[in-house]
Amino acid sequence: MGAMFDLSQRVAVVTGGAGGIGSAIARGLAAQGAKVVITSRNIESLKKTAEEIATELDAEILPLVADVTNEASVAALVQQVVKQLGTVDILVNAHGFNVKAMALDFPINEWQRLFDANVKGTMITCKEFGRVMVEKRYGKIVNVSSVRGVRANAGGNSGYCATKAAVDMITRCLAAEWAPYKVNVNAVGPALIATKFTEKQMQEPGRTEKYLRNIPWGRLGLANDVVGAVVFLASDAAEFVTGQIIYVDGGLTAIG
Ligand SMILES: NC(=O)c1ccc[n+]([C@@H]2O[C@H](COP(=O)([O-])OP(=O)(O)OC[C@H]3O[C@@H](n4cnc5c(N)ncnc54)[C@H](OP(=O)(O)O)[C@@H]3O)[C@@H](O)[C@H]2O)c1
Repeated sequence: MGAMFDLSQRVAVVTGGAGGIGSAIARGLAAQGAKVVITSRNIESLKKTAEEIATELDAEILPLVADVTNEASVAALVQQVVKQLGTVDILVNAHGFNVKAMALDFPINEWQRLFDANVKGTMITCKEFGRVMVEKRYGKIVNVSSVRGVRANAGGNSGYCATKAAVDMITRCLAAEWAPYKVNVNAVGPALIATKFTEKQMQEPGRTEKYLRNIPWGRLGLANDVVGAVVFLASDAAEFVTGQIIYVDGGLTAIG
């Protein structure tokens, strides 16, 4: 059974790899034996995260810079990964952010920036890394979506929710398109996870208590909660699972 989740022959790339969720995922994949590339736009935070994980796990973690909104930058990243590690087997898209604004005041340039990173960026990385996977008839792609892809709210999240719904549909469409090539494309949908990304909103008075009323499990999510589902989807245990979104949400989507 343990071997089903063994990633020791695999090369994984994690976008947003120095972020709260991305770094936990990178650590989890490395703990299963994968060689892991972490990527984002900031080499300093990547190097720091890579060093921390490598020291902790005695693992091979390679920090490489790329901007997921830029096709040439991602194509160059793919080339570097293949040159340095020989191939790529696993892609986890854990980049992204939120711009909160009420609809009547939503600055359209910010809407565009949000879609560029969360949607276009996901499509570009899937396309560029997917090319290698389709060619070799093996690959596991896991997109970090959100419960917000299926659950609307009235708090100025129209842009973010729309980007995550788009990520969900990219996931399903690519799963269908690449199933004949044995490339699995799935997503995880976390609920609110305590990271830098959510720090500000958690500080609003009463916010956490209000949120917890919708979480049957009775606590907020942690970055480590997301790791098990991603490791599963990145492993051969998920051979026949594709086009799915696994919610890591303490039951939030189960109740409404
Ligand atoms: N935290 C939550 O509650 C939560 C819940 C559900 C889903 N999610 C999703 O989980 C993912 C990660 O969130 P997080 O909480 O870990 O946020 P985070 O700590 O802010 O990490 C986000 C990462 O995305 C990278 N990034 C942003 N734009 C980029 C670009 N154009 N090119 C390359 N990298 C880029 C950032 O790095 P640089 O700025 O250095 O490039 C950063 O490392 C996001 O997709 C988010 O929507 C989060």
